[in-house]
Amino acid sequence: MAEGFSQSSGEAPEYKLVPLRGFNLISGIHSPEVVDQVQNFEIQDSDVFVITYPKSGTIWLQQILSLIEVKGDVTATNNQLNSERVPWIELLDSRKQFVSAPSPRIRVSHLPYKFMPLGLKQKKGKVIYVARNPKDVLVSYFHFHKYANMLETPKDFDTFFEKFMEGNVFGNCWFEHVKSWCSHKDEMNFLYITYEEMIKDLRAVVERITSFLERNLTSQQLNEVIEHSTFKNMKNNPQANYQQIPVILLNHQLGTFLRKGTVGDWKNYFTVAQNERFDKVYQQKMKEVPLSFIWDMNDLVTS
Ligand code: A3P
Repeated sequence: MAEGFSQSSGEAPEYKLVPLRGFNLISGIHSPEVVDQVQNFEIQDSDVFVITYPKSGTIWLQQILSLIEVKGDVTATNNQLNSERVPWIELLDSRKQFVSAPSPRIRVSHLPYKFMPLGLKQKKGKVIYVARNPKDVLVSYFHFHKYANMLETPKDFDTFFEKFMEGNVFGNCWFEHVKSWCSHKDEMNFLYITYEEMIKDLRAVVERITSFLERNLTSQQLNEVIEHSTFKNMKNNPQANYQQIPVILLNHQLGTFLRKGTVGDWKNYFTVAQNERFDKVYQQKMKEVPLSFIWDMNDLVTS
């Protein structure tokens, strides 16, 4: 999540979670009025929306999609933050930007399905949903809360675990988010990808994306997209690692946006009891949605 990341530094507003129709927004970053308007945004066939629950690889998709658009030429993206190249639609000033932007308008969003532009349901535009195994999402989000100044600093991991399970965070309940989108997939031009597939075979996923978006890239151009989207290269790229985001939003002394970029880090944090509880909730909540995840780096090799 990187809402408001292009804001210049200044006095920090009071950031807190404010509910809108059962979904938490962050005051000072989101406006309920704007979010309520998103449904009425007029959609063009060339519009592309990347949808994620926070910490599922949003910044990664911003990198990949912006590079696809310039056919892998990283010099064409180097003077803009990822969040400026592929902005959020739920930000305070997003409507004006969206209406006047040239085609193709490529956007990211953490909003649940119920807020999305109605035109998407008439198969206008395209949606890419990126999911990540929720145990790693929880751990990544815990670390993000420690250094993101717009989010409440958790007392400790256990406290954050409870908050996540209750959906008492920005993004709300992970289970409801993924279900809300995936259960409506047939209404839209919809591509579902996972973070773990990208870790396993980035080229294969980038090829699926280019084919879904009907973009033609040569093999060399694809290589460039992939090369500049690796964890290592993004971490070393100031525009792609959010190092230049003002401190009122991110305290860079306390963390980095590109943190570990791996699968199975949850094993270093979950207790046996937390893991059992999580699995139980997962089975209960996901029984009507046939999605499977990779939970461990070893499974990645064999899957
Ligand atoms: P970790 O905190 O587990 O490292 P988002 O952009 O949705 O907030 O997601 C951030 C997460 O995606 C972080 O996870 C970050 O490291 C990971 N990520 C971003 N770019 C990545 C890349 N190129 N390869 C692997 N992971 C990446």
